[in-house]
Amino acid sequence: MKLKIGFTYDAKNDYPLHPGDNPDKYAEFDSEDTIREITDALKTSGHQIVRVGNIRSFIKQVNAGEKYDFIFNICEGIKGRNRESQAPAVFEVYDTPYSGSDALTMGLTLDKTMAKRILQYHGLKTPNFIAVKSVEELSPKKFKLRFPIIVKPSLEGTSKGISRESLCRNFTQLKKRAEWLLETYKQPALIEEFIIGYEFTVPVLGNDPPKVLPIVQTAISGKTDLGDDFYTQARVDSTDINYLCPAEIDKELEEKINTLVLESYKALGCHDVSRIDIRVDYNNEPYFLECNPLPNIGRIDVFPLVAKAMGITYEQLLCLVLDASLKRHKLA
Ligand SMILES: Nc1ncnc2c1ncn2[C@@H]1O[C@H](COP(=O)(O)OP(=O)(O)O)[C@@H](O)[C@H]1O
Ligand SMILES: [Mg+2]
Repeated sequence: MKLKIGFTYDAKNDYPLHPGDNPDKYAEFDSEDTIREITDALKTSGHQIVRVGNIRSFIKQVNAGEKYDFIFNICEGIKGRNRESQAPAVFEVYDTPYSGSDALTMGLTLDKTMAKRILQYHGLKTPNFIAVKSVEELSPKKFKLRFPIIVKPSLEGTSKGISRESLCRNFTQLKKRAEWLLETYKQPALIEEFIIGYEFTVPVLGNDPPKVLPIVQTAISGKTDLGDDFYTQARVDSTDINYLCPAEIDKELEEKINTLVLESYKALGCHDVSRIDIRVDYNNEPYFLECNPLPNIGRIDVFPLVAKAMGITYEQLLCLVLDASLKRHKLA
């Protein structure tokens, strides 16, 4: 059955920056190239793919009588901690089946602290942490975490607010950084134990049961043993970072990572696709950092590498994501 599939996204072009805006404000939005690549890849499914644009365009179109059998959604949303939840909630209001996780999972995973609490409840490993709304909550006497620690915004992505200064080795550094973060990002600071070692990002596909795809390993300046180095914002578009897929790891670690990632995906209620970030310490123990239910599925990110490791094309991998979602909705 050929379906009419609407493609919803937030394009960088739709949101021009204004004077005084932080240049990273729309870092998560997709470029025209990415949107075109994804549209072209989805077209190879044989379905009719229609570019809808952002959630406001979707609302305008359906209110004007337009109908879609299904929505392929990668909207990041504009602001606030419910930004990624908005599009899925709207599709439900309009009773339109859509791809990817629902509003609750989007909210839970966007708030890294909430995601970590869910993981702890399930006995899954994530670095020890606290979240604070003001520096007054921090006192050296009550502070129980082991240094070094990292201070992150709890509601951002794409390494926003993450630089060398995020890594703190003592209480004075921590307090200074937390103060800066609270003031700059106006949201709780997530303070967590820093995992010295290796880093991986792991795509998961499908439902009942979901499947872990080839593990992607992060190298910085050509090294996979990262020590206390990490993915800062300055590195997002730099050549410092490169990815290895399949990862250079033994079977035992691979199985440990697969189990943690799969259990996290299920615990957070993800659907169809996600990418989970992991750090591994020198005892070969993997720790969950965060889950991205809206991973970048364009060609500039890790998906082409993952497809290659699976022995399929990038287009085929995107069609697998679409298929998994259509099956879940009994549309395939
Ligand atoms: N607890 C940690 N230990 C070691 N590195 C970390 C830790 N938390 C974050 N990082 C580093 O910071 C990067 C960004 O953090 P992450 O939690 O994935 O947020 P984002 O949503 O910005 O990707 C990670 O890719 C990793 O390199
Ligand atoms: Mg991340």
